[in-house]
Amino acid sequence: MKTNDQPEPTVFVIFGGAGDLTWRKLVPALFDLSQDRSMPADFSVIAVDRVDLSDEKLRHRLHDGVKKFSRQGTVKTGEWGEFAGHIRYQQGDFKNLQTYATLGEQCAKLEKEWGAKVHRIFYMATPPSMFGEIPKYLGKAGLARDRELSRIVIEKPIGYDLESARKLNGILADSFAESQIFRIDHYLGKETVQNILAFRFANPLFEPIWNRRYVDCVTITVAEEVGVVHRGGYYDQAGALRDMVQNHLMQLLCLVAMEPMVSFDADEIRNKKVDVLHAVRPIHHDAVHQYVVRGQYGKGWIGGKGVCGYREEDDVSPDSQAETFVALKLFLDNWRWQDVPFYLRTGKRLTRQVSEVAIQFRAVPHQAFPPEATLDWQPACLVMSIYPDEGIVLRFQAKHPGPRMSLRTVEMQFNYQDTFAARSPDAYETLLWDVMKNDATLFMRADQVEAAWRLLMPVLDVWAAAPPGDFPNYAAGTWGPEAAQGLLAQQGHSWALPMESVGRRAKKGTRA
Ligand code: BG6
Repeated sequence: MKTNDQPEPTVFVIFGGAGDLTWRKLVPALFDLSQDRSMPADFSVIAVDRVDLSDEKLRHRLHDGVKKFSRQGTVKTGEWGEFAGHIRYQQGDFKNLQTYATLGEQCAKLEKEWGAKVHRIFYMATPPSMFGEIPKYLGKAGLARDRELSRIVIEKPIGYDLESARKLNGILADSFAESQIFRIDHYLGKETVQNILAFRFANPLFEPIWNRRYVDCVTITVAEEVGVVHRGGYYDQAGALRDMVQNHLMQLLCLVAMEPMVSFDADEIRNKKVDVLHAVRPIHHDAVHQYVVRGQYGKGWIGGKGVCGYREEDDVSPDSQAETFVALKLFLDNWRWQDVPFYLRTGKRLTRQVSEVAIQFRAVPHQAFPPEATLDWQPACLVMSIYPDEGIVLRFQAKHPGPRMSLRTVEMQFNYQDTFAARSPDAYETLLWDVMKNDATLFMRADQVEAAWRLLMPVLDVWAAAPPGDFPNYAAGTWGPEAAQGLLAQQGHSWALPMESVGRRAKKGTRA
């Protein structure tokens, strides 16, 4: 989280510096930070990769990425030129100690030039197969030794299951202390996700009713309109449970359900979050089908256009069993949440893109109004919209004007675009800035990653043993398989209505 001070001199080493993540996310975010004067006065970006490239060619490619993805909109030539002067390219094999020796020399040279201790950030923007290699070489080359100055950044996926996550965490821990390891879940960098903490704990209003006495159920939806785009090869091995639930949805669950933190210390907040995962009631192997629904999209219609089914996507097996949709029902065994269902769902090729958390409140204990007054009655609901409509809506009952007592559902709204004139930073800006400031609050700790895998292992085991017989089981452009509605209907619940009206970008949609 940001304070006002600038980071100290920093060398940003990006392994996979010629790759897509660097081009699309990392360099545009660093550029935007530099435009906001949030980069240190002395910094250098060293892009390391195997391909043969010159500094000039790399800068040209990165300029293109900045023009496409920077928050600044237009990128002035002078501004880019000034920033690009900080970027250099180093060709090297990630599995060759010499690559790391050269990096060490570069860092020492910059330290001398700047006359200061230099923070060294090693970012693994590589395919996951390299995650277990690079830390070993950094360790061997002595580049991990300084616990204050050296940091390593790793993107999800952190492992493929509990065992591989443990192994990877072990490899990281062989060379780096936990305080030096920054595991990115980009959801935590989103303004609206950070705002869940602000909303809950900076206001006295809702916390007293944020519990089983007043909350009937919680729904968390992360729906995407897109399919697998160009990532069929990766996705077909992963599926939605690994790709989205193990990380992004579990993080949202933790923020919504955690106890108030005592201080804004990274470990204090992360302890409170991991407590939530420890409280989740385990899903037993023989009950997986009662608590979890999986789906895969077939062909359908999105935005008036016909789209192909998942099995027809590039790099996807024609008889793929990978799930592109998951819905789960979870319970937390603790005082605050006992018996309150948390319903989580995520999927690709759904009706539209929407990420939101809805707290659905219980009905009043006694309904004193005449039946005809309550024909439109809906329980009160607080919707925290993460994306694309960034804001919060409270739905409640109000008296409809007129001589009769008649109740209608109305909304009170807050939206980011109207309230704050500035455009929200991209999640990566926040996260990269935090890495430079050595603030791990928004990053996943090893125990949290493992706790999330542990919860999901029975589901992965059961699914692996019993391939679905009914895939594809939802048409692209719908809200997923029918069974996902049934999961809630058993308890008399339904998925909250996606928030239509908060943001200016809101589109008219259908009921989910
Ligand atoms: C990534 C997943 O972590 O998150 C993708 O690998 C998914 O499959 C993406 O599309 C969603 O992120 P966002 O920020 O667009 O909601």
